[in-house]
Amino acid sequence: MPPAGASLGDWLQYAERLYAREKLALGQVAASAHDEALYLLLHTLGLPLDSPAHVLAKPLTTAERAAVETMLRRRVVDRVPAAYLTHEAWLGEHRFYVDERVIIPRSYFLEIIPQQLDGWLPDPEKVRRVADVCTGSGCLAILLAHHFPAAKVDALDLSAEALEVAEINVREHRLTRRIALYRSDVFDAVPAANYDVILSNPPYEPSAHVNAQTPEFKAEPRMAHDGGKDGLVIIRKLLQQAGARLAPQGIVLIEVGGLQAAMNREFAALEPHWLRTEDSADCVCLIHAARLQAWRR
Ligand SMILES: C[S@@+](CC[C@H](N)C(=O)[O-])C[C@H]1O[C@@H](n2cnc3c(N)ncnc32)[C@H](O)[C@@H]1O
Repeated sequence: MPPAGASLGDWLQYAERLYAREKLALGQVAASAHDEALYLLLHTLGLPLDSPAHVLAKPLTTAERAAVETMLRRRVVDRVPAAYLTHEAWLGEHRFYVDERVIIPRSYFLEIIPQQLDGWLPDPEKVRRVADVCTGSGCLAILLAHHFPAAKVDALDLSAEALEVAEINVREHRLTRRIALYRSDVFDAVPAANYDVILSNPPYEPSAHVNAQTPEFKAEPRMAHDGGKDGLVIIRKLLQQAGARLAPQGIVLIEVGGLQAAMNREFAALEPHWLRTEDSADCVCLIHAARLQAWRR
């Protein structure tokens, strides 16, 4: 452990060594141990996340040292995900409250909503009705409400606990008039509507993969990950229900993780189009209302 009077930079190096030694899982808050540990230390010390590099030279007081030690113990020994320690997660410039009731936000829709969505819509300014299926913390419903300022967003989740967190976030983003939350198994309990956009980041991991997850990912609600035996259970239900709820020019977008090949096989008739993502994962598919409506007949 760094000696008394050690600087923030010394603690950062120490934290990075712990992350490597204990093989902590990454990917929930940041992709590298350096970025996650720096985030955790700055947050613990109440310093801005965009602090200049010279803060690393700052020696820690006795109280700060104790706070950092506690935080690192919770992360390294108890394997608590960083976002559950800080009770926040960031998608771009947007901050969301999180705790163990919801999966930590980290969706490809963060890049797709601002960069690609409008190109698939006849008139993005006329988007009035949007649905976020499997909303969790409400993060994507909130990104959608910001992106389509004239739209009403229906956000649904089967987990009552997740919806409690979504309610906090909708309130903090001052969107209670535009986002309606529903407790529902996919669309079962949501009033009929003609959506311009239905978007979903559903649970899509095959159950066996979920059983083998690291402690950090197991700390997230299982129902946020578990897509049934082949991962497709919720996606199937969503596609069966979506056609009846889309406007004629509407679209469905679904993030599917590693299920691209399985989707292409099972839903070839729907002609899923795979959107490019910066890391080439290309795991978000877009399906047109016309394809879904013809498929259901
Ligand atoms: C992968 S998380 C996505 C959460 C959020 N949209 C995000 O991107 O961070 C999937 C969510 O689906 C919810 N869920 C699981 N099964 C569901 C179902 N049958 N109907 C509706 N929501 C469901 C889970 O509770 C969880 O909040």
